[in-house]
Amino acid sequence: MASLIQFGLVTLLLSISAVFSQARQEQQAKSKSLFLPLSRDRATNQILTHLHIGTPAITRTFIVDLAGQIPWLDCYTTARYSASTSSTHRLAKCGSAPCSVTAAACSGICHSASGPSCHNNTCQLKTRNPIRSTDSLSEVAVDTVTLRSTIGGGRAGKHVSIPNFILACDDSYHLGHLAAGVVGSVGLARSRVSVSSQLSSAATLAAKFAICLPSSPDSNGIMFFGDSPYVFYPSDNETRSIDVSYRLIYTKLHTNYRRTTAPGARGSEIPDYFVKISSILVEGSPIRINSTLLEFQPSGIGGTRVSTTDPYTVLGSSIYRSLVRAFEIEVMKTPRVKKAATVAPFRNCYEKGDLPMSLSGLSVPEIALVFESAEVKWDIFGVNSVVEVSEEVFCLGFVDGGPMTAKGATVAAVIGAYQMQGVLVQFDLGSGTMGFTNTLLAESVECSNFRF
Ligand SMILES: *[C@@H]1O[C@H](CO)[C@@H](O)[C@H](O)[C@H]1NC(C)=O
Ligand SMILES: *[C@@H]1O[C@H](CO)[C@@H](O)[C@H](O)[C@H]1NC(C)=O
Ligand SMILES: *[C@@H]1O[C@H](CO)[C@@H](O)[C@H](O)[C@H]1NC(C)=O
Repeated sequence: MASLIQFGLVTLLLSISAVFSQARQEQQAKSKSLFLPLSRDRATNQILTHLHIGTPAITRTFIVDLAGQIPWLDCYTTARYSASTSSTHRLAKCGSAPCSVTAAACSGICHSASGPSCHNNTCQLKTRNPIRSTDSLSEVAVDTVTLRSTIGGGRAGKHVSIPNFILACDDSYHLGHLAAGVVGSVGLARSRVSVSSQLSSAATLAAKFAICLPSSPDSNGIMFFGDSPYVFYPSDNETRSIDVSYRLIYTKLHTNYRRTTAPGARGSEIPDYFVKISSILVEGSPIRINSTLLEFQPSGIGGTRVSTTDPYTVLGSSIYRSLVRAFEIEVMKTPRVKKAATVAPFRNCYEKGDLPMSLSGLSVPEIALVFESAEVKWDIFGVNSVVEVSEEVFCLGFVDGGPMTAKGATVAAVIGAYQMQGVLVQFDLGSGTMGFTNTLLAESVECSNFRF
């Protein structure tokens, strides 16, 4: 009897201390974050980051891809990065943990002469070049990556090295269409081996990351891994600090499936970030949209995706036309604003006429994306809605994605980089939500105002 009571007491104490240590771990995870700087390539508008990789660490440039399931890079061009530049680079062997966690297939035997991409007993999986939209079979490998931590979310702290980081190796051909100097892709999708997932488990961070895209090719942006605070200084007083996370408003992340033509069948899950827009407003009034298009259909058509590799928000044709119609009626109310010749990739351009400038860009009619409740509204001002292509002309910074048919666009909207610049967007994998702050210019903050 005594031993039973003792046993019960010990179990109780153990479980209490387990609860405490779990709470402590959560507390630690909560307050910790790492970051990577972001930039925008002038020639291509691609969003890039710089990552320290290998031993000794070298700094290399990667494209940032919210849809990428695993980081990949060119490991076969010695000048870029390879086994000979890094002593901690290892190809994963068939049956090893990196091969199983990535669900990569064992590639068997390479019969040609041993070369940089010819190995026996390694495993391979498909990786995607998000700009050229091509896939390649890449070999799974591991190496050490090094990032800076933040001090309280507001200042660059010490370097943190993460060994055995899983990545995929490919060749220089897979880099086609990527910006000059880019050696691979930093994938952030909802997958176990995306950069964000690997960092949160290896460095015990909250399962969240946030991106703040640069407003111009000349300024920086930042990507935080881990929880808030996300602290910036306002441009008018560099000694002040503002944790912009208090501005975050949240909407649910949805699961979407690959398109399928088989009736009643469902395709495989897509690891991208999907949200549901319920309406689009111009100057507070909803534009006409066939609401079926905004729903996620079992066929894989419909809904809204978030993308760092689409430079501008893409709308299905009927939605795009509706937006232009409403925007044009409103913007033409300003004297001397007139239609101008088209400037690619945009279809609707205007002479500025008497439109005034404001702190948040040209004072054009306000566009808003409304998510699943009326309060969750993404306000888009001139700085994010129109692109000034010359002194006199600006264009609506949205593009027509074509008709939403079985062969055309799959989603109603893709929220692209231009609309996200100067906005902090957080992806919370734990609670399955996306948070956004609206333009930080309201606080005089730009994404470059971090103490790097
Ligand atoms: C792979 O193994 C095969 C058969 O064992 C051998 O002939 C071949 O040379 C090996 N290739 C490499 C790249 O080591
Ligand atoms: C800037 O902010 C600091 C800290 O809040 C404050 O003490 C200082 O007076 C401010 N400077 C100006 C010029 O407003
Ligand atoms: C709305 O879109 C759906 C899906 O494309 C289509 O079947 C339906 O006919 C459309 N409704 C209207 C009123 O155009």
